[in-house]
Amino acid sequence: MQSMNKPIVVANWKMNPQSLAEAKRLFDSVSKGLKDIKNTEVVICPPFIYLPLLNNGGRTSIKLGAQDVFWEKKGAFTGEISSKMLKDLGCQYVIIGHSERRRYFNETDEVVNKKLKTALATKLNPILCIGETQQERKKGKTKEILKRQLTNALEKISDFRLHTSDFVIAYEPIWAIGTGKACSPAEAKRAGDFIRSTVSNIYNQKFAENLSILYGGSVNSQNAKPYIFEADFQGLLIGGASLKAKEFIKIVKSVS
Ligand code: PGA
Repeated sequence: MQSMNKPIVVANWKMNPQSLAEAKRLFDSVSKGLKDIKNTEVVICPPFIYLPLLNNGGRTSIKLGAQDVFWEKKGAFTGEISSKMLKDLGCQYVIIGHSERRRYFNETDEVVNKKLKTALATKLNPILCIGETQQERKKGKTKEILKRQLTNALEKISDFRLHTSDFVIAYEPIWAIGTGKACSPAEAKRAGDFIRSTVSNIYNQKFAENLSILYGGSVNSQNAKPYIFEADFQGLLIGGASLKAKEFIKIVKSVS
């Protein structure tokens, strides 16, 4: 069953671009190009340090998101950023459990669960990323992995609590991220449907039906459309292609 929410397109800039001037240029070009788009939620997640400098006080319809958050509220945690700080800078979304964080920073399901709770407590909309590696996929373990990631991430989080923000899940098969080998819409749909039915088992059908599930992994302006119109996803998480203003604008327009 497909959710009726308006599509969400999230740009994950990762550790790019390398200067504030470029970041501002990219943000301004995207804002201008999408100023008439009303029926799609566009979220840009730049590196932390650019957030306050891109926050234009709501003069564009583009929302800001962070790429990560720490789970503690405040205190002696050198190098970390709290959810309250993000809220204060005008952030509305936060990506949690991206595979690059899991891989390079050893983020476990337990860490992801703690970060989710923190984001929800501050009413930051979490974008929970889950997905299998190529090896797991080859061994036929995709569903097992998705179920484990979901169950652990959502442990002791009630649907009531999830309702306090716009909770979003992104299916990002790791083998499709940054490789140019996007998952086919048919295969992605099987994973998306499985995610929805797993969420339905954890909570209930109504909650699962209304949940927005995004696809991410080598999305570009040529392949974006079918994920939304054929594979029942409610949005996209874009890495590489979000760094090119024209390409990103095309992607958003193609699904709006
Ligand atoms: P990609 O990255 O679009 O460059 O594959 C997606 C992501 O990591 O969110």
